[in-house]
Formats: sequence, structure tokens, C-alpha cells
Amino acid sequence: MKKRANIVAGNWKMNKDYQQGRDLTLEIVNKLQPSETVVILCPPFTHLQNTHTAINDISNLHLGAQNCHQEESGAYTGEISTGMLKSCGCDFVIIGHSERREFFSESDELLARKVDRALATGLRPIFCCGEPLPIREKGTHAAHVSEQVKNGLFHLPEEQMKEVVIAYEPIWAIGTGKTASPEQAQEMHQVIRSLLAKQYSEALAERISILYGGSVKPANAAELFAKPDVDGGLVGGASLKADDFIGIINHSNEALAK
Ligand code: 13P
Repeated sequence: MKKRANIVAGNWKMNKDYQQGRDLTLEIVNKLQPSETVVILCPPFTHLQNTHTAINDISNLHLGAQNCHQEESGAYTGEISTGMLKSCGCDFVIIGHSERREFFSESDELLARKVDRALATGLRPIFCCGEPLPIREKGTHAAHVSEQVKNGLFHLPEEQMKEVVIAYEPIWAIGTGKTASPEQAQEMHQVIRSLLAKQYSEALAERISILYGGSVKPANAAELFAKPDVDGGLVGGASLKADDFIGIINHSNEALAK
């Protein structure tokens, strides 16, 4: 029996206008069955308040944001603070997505500060890591991802580390339709969990949920979630269709039932 939660999080990225987002949330809310899987919706900032209202009383459904600023408040035009997210009903925030690392030049050092700010506000970080294709082809992916995890998270004391969710998202599998094989995902999740055990303790490593992300869909979720160290998924494209997203959640429930 696993000591950690299975989580399926939908990262909508920069998709859906307000009305479309509202419709998607309502469809998910209507179709979602009560289950042990923790489900998180991460819509764009402009949809958070409305999504929060729609999911308010569903116990296994949570709200997450896709990014936050590292400072508490101040003159940062266009930015969103963790306090604002918390006050809109967020429980989680994605930090260090590869698209933020690549298109917004977010460094490990900056991400570590975002992680601190999120935790200080009572938000649980979904910390992303993952290698680009050339690193995978060179065979140095384990070292690359280990560095990301160490630099972004290992300054945390164990009490705070417990609150973190990790998402392994190989960049070559994001939005490409190319999924890591269940074996490739398991290998990397095991690398990350061993790292946690070495830095903290076995007990802590067993408690941390490690999600896989990269072209997760209903057709491949079952075999990915069947792997012992894959504790659910961070889903992009397939989270934009209620039936696909629910299908993935159902595979998580089936994996938990085994
Ligand atoms: P896709 O599921 O669209 O590949 O996106 C994965 C992702 O980046 C989730 O954060």
C-alpha cells in the first residue's frame, strides 16, 4: 500500500478563454466521481476565482496556479503573488515548468526562491524537472534532472519538503505526442526518489508524490500509472477535454485499487 497520494493535475497552459474555461470546469465537476485520486485544475490566472467557486465543495478537487512571483508583494507590474493565489483558493502552484525555464529564462536559483515563497504562503509547489532531447540522447538525463531537483529543492528542511510534489516531464515528450515509455518514466522516478532518500530519509522519499508529464492521455495512462514510482500525471493537452481528463483520472483510480 502506497504511503503517498496519487495526483492527476491538469495544466491548461495559455488555453481557453473565460467562458470556455468555465464550461470545461463545469463539465469536469459534473463528470468527476468521488475517488482517492487528488485532482488539481491549473487554469490561467484569470480563471482561478471562477474555477474555485465551481469546485469549492468537492473534496478531492483542488485549485492550482501555473506560476507565481518570488517576492511577497511590490512594484512588479504584471506579476502575481503567492498571497493573491492563496486568496483565490489555490492550494498548489506549478513551479519550474520547462516552458518557464526555457521561454522566461527561469534559473534554478530563481525557482528555489519561488518554492520558498510558495511554502511560506501555505501553497504546495508542484516542482517540475526534466531533460531536453540532446541530454537524453547523450545519456546524461539522470544527472541533469538530479541537479534540477537538488538546486531547486534541497535547501528545504524535511518539514517543508513533505509539502512538495515533484513532476518529471521530459521536454521531448511535452506536446509532441511522444510519451516516455513506462520503463523510462519509472527509471527517472526511481532516480528522483533515491535522491530524496539519500538527502532526507526513506520515510520522506516514500511520502513524496512524483508525477509524470509529457503527452499523457487515456490510452497510455494505465501503463504509466502501473509503475510503482509513478504517482499520477501532470497533464497538458489532454486536460483540455473533460472526457480525456476524466479518463486519465479513472486510470489513476484503477492503479490505486490494485
Ligand atoms: P502535454 O500533456 O500536452 O504533453 O503537456 C505536458 C505538460 O507540459 C504538463 O505540464
